[in-house]
Amino acid sequence: MKVSILTVFAELYKPFVATSLIKKAQENGLLAVDVDEFFSFVQPKERIDAPTFGHGPGMLIKPVVVQKAIEAKESLHGKAFKIFFSPQGTKLDQSVVAQIAQKAQEQGHLMLIAGRYEGMDARVEQVYADMTISVGDFVLMGGDLASLTVLESVLRLVPGIVGKTESVSDESFSGPFVEYPHYTEPIVWKGLEVPDVIRSGNHGAINTWRMDKAARKTVLHHFDWLRTRTLDSAQMKVCKKNMPHHYTALLHNDVLISDSQKSGTTSVTSLDIHDIARSSKTYGIKGYFIVTPMLDQQKIVKRLLDFWMSEGVEYNVSRHEAVKQVSLANSLDDVIVVIEKIEGKKPLIIATSAREIEHPNCISYYDQEKVWSYDRPVLFIFGTGRGLTKERLLASDFLLKSVKSFSDYNHLSVRSAVAIVFDRWLGINEKT
Ligand SMILES: C[S@@+](CC[C@H](N)C(=O)[O-])C[C@H]1O[C@@H](n2cnc3c(N)ncnc32)[C@H](O)[C@@H]1O
Repeated sequence: MKVSILTVFAELYKPFVATSLIKKAQENGLLAVDVDEFFSFVQPKERIDAPTFGHGPGMLIKPVVVQKAIEAKESLHGKAFKIFFSPQGTKLDQSVVAQIAQKAQEQGHLMLIAGRYEGMDARVEQVYADMTISVGDFVLMGGDLASLTVLESVLRLVPGIVGKTESVSDESFSGPFVEYPHYTEPIVWKGLEVPDVIRSGNHGAINTWRMDKAARKTVLHHFDWLRTRTLDSAQMKVCKKNMPHHYTALLHNDVLISDSQKSGTTSVTSLDIHDIARSSKTYGIKGYFIVTPMLDQQKIVKRLLDFWMSEGVEYNVSRHEAVKQVSLANSLDDVIVVIEKIEGKKPLIIATSAREIEHPNCISYYDQEKVWSYDRPVLFIFGTGRGLTKERLLASDFLLKSVKSFSDYNHLSVRSAVAIVFDRWLGINEKT
């Protein structure tokens, strides 16, 4: 495979491509790397850059210079799969690396075109880029580190460059999980012992242990990656095992009952019981509590739950499965006691509200890692009426940001809000 690199600073690449496996691949004839500077394509003393049109600082590499460089390299090595670099580009991850590796091998020629200064004239990418890559949401001084990152990650996937194919295919982000932990000698180091199971010689047990560790690490630290992947049934099972347990409670007390900010109690509704039960079951919530201190309301809930535990089974078995997880509670304190009994630990309480209030622990839908790091069950609380009182919100461990979009209207039903919150917090959102 041929790799052409176009840059302002060729010397950045020289030691890199003359080292280790990339050097060996060139010696073995698997790879030819051609690094060249844009200066090779202008007359001596001619500039490769020019000021941007419009106000604002910065110089851009001229399109004609990039054109000459690309045309020269393609006439030497054949048509290339061409990559440009920009913080605005496609975010690099292992699946993007795999796509580039495949295209580069099909084409036989990969070209990496690294910008500098303020970047390049926008028309160059428009005309030539097969892909524009970003290595993250930050700004480098030039595209060279991004280009070296692409070079090394892509070459790992070209057969023959890295010795064992399993060391490439088993690693983090090649599948849905990051890699399991590795250990070597000595068996005990700084009081930490290599787990017995991986020295047991029992391959089945080692594989099970490794999958469990990989899944746990991915759930707890890379949930945003995991939820975009497609999981097989074994992977799904091990993820479920490692997911922290979640519960939810719908409060009919400690809620606001009018715009005048008065707190009070509300009536239960059959729709909230059924629909939130179904959302809870769908998102793996372990228990759904209807909280009301009012005896007449408790009677209504009991009657409904009794129905679903008796005739309801035959009437609609999937609804029965969902409602089976619903319990009635007198107060939030009672809910906490029940969860503590089941889990052996008090739950962390995440309160939800459509109103924005100041809370010392306000969290977003990207904060699973923070909450799950406490290794405690999680209880979401939702309010009926006009929402949970300020006192109840402030007494909770966390306050989750309100659900909102690009409109001024903010009056979701509690059933809809619950479903959205569950989906944002626990939902799978496969990319392919
Ligand atoms: C100073 S940056 C230009 C940033 C550009 N003005 C912007 O705000 O999007 C100069 C060059 O560095 C490279 N670069 C900077 N940050 C990058 C990133 N996160 N990923 C890939 N390339 C990057 C690109 O080649 C870019 O053209």
